[in-house]
Amino acid sequence: MNIYSVEQLRFSYDGKFTLFIEKFEMGESCVGLVGPSGSGKTTLLLNLALLLKGTWKKFQFLEEDVTETNMERLRRRVTYVAQHPILLRRTVFENIAYPLLLRRISKEKITERVEMIAQLFDLKDLLNKKPWQLSGGQAKRACLARAFVFEPKVILLDEPTADLDEKSRRILNDVLRIYSDRTSFIIVSHEIDWLSDLCEKIYAMNDGVLKGMKS
Ligand SMILES: Nc1ncnc2c1ncn2[C@@H]1O[C@H](COP(=O)(O)OP(=O)(O)OP(=O)(O)O)[C@@H](O)[C@H]1O
Ligand SMILES: [Mg+2]
Repeated sequence: MNIYSVEQLRFSYDGKFTLFIEKFEMGESCVGLVGPSGSGKTTLLLNLALLLKGTWKKFQFLEEDVTETNMERLRRRVTYVAQHPILLRRTVFENIAYPLLLRRISKEKITERVEMIAQLFDLKDLLNKKPWQLSGGQAKRACLARAFVFEPKVILLDEPTADLDEKSRRILNDVLRIYSDRTSFIIVSHEIDWLSDLCEKIYAMNDGVLKGMKS
């Protein structure tokens, strides 16, 4: 299945910085994105997550043209994980359960799914903690767990290894491999070697413009 098919996507916050993507095609895969600070990587992910809306000649997500009418529905098939953990002021369990609640999944199923994903991310002992009782790395793992729990078609990871120690990083690697048969990823990172091991293709962003590097 085609995940993204984008042509001439343009987005600007205030006229100073412009993201301009001539062409971006992505099938079911894991894609890396590198580039200097301020080059537009986060801005691109937010556009691809349908959280920011630019203008375009073509913007297909999961083989559907993105329109005002279907944007809300399509947004539920993709999730963006920010570089800095953002959690609700609720327990880790409630945070991870949140996307499932939104999707009206049954209570038993929610418990089952949250416990399963908590196990994968080594969060089992932290499920009753509140965000301010967590370390940076633990909060990051909770955010990652909340993204994986509802198995979106695409997960956009913005510098996922920032704040992660060696063990958490191994956990993330394992989870990425486990999910690679059903989920596509775009991963922003400064760690090119790590991305090269994981990704089929790596793009470089420079001044709002995307270039292919490795394929
Ligand atoms: N909400 C915003 N309003 C106005 N300008 C913004 C906003 N967010 C980002 N920018 C500007 O857009 C440009 C691209 O920012 P972006 O966050 O996409 O870069 P980045 O490649 O993700 O950088 P980093 O590696 O530091 O995370 C920067 O010049 C930034 O100052
Ligand atoms: Mg960024």
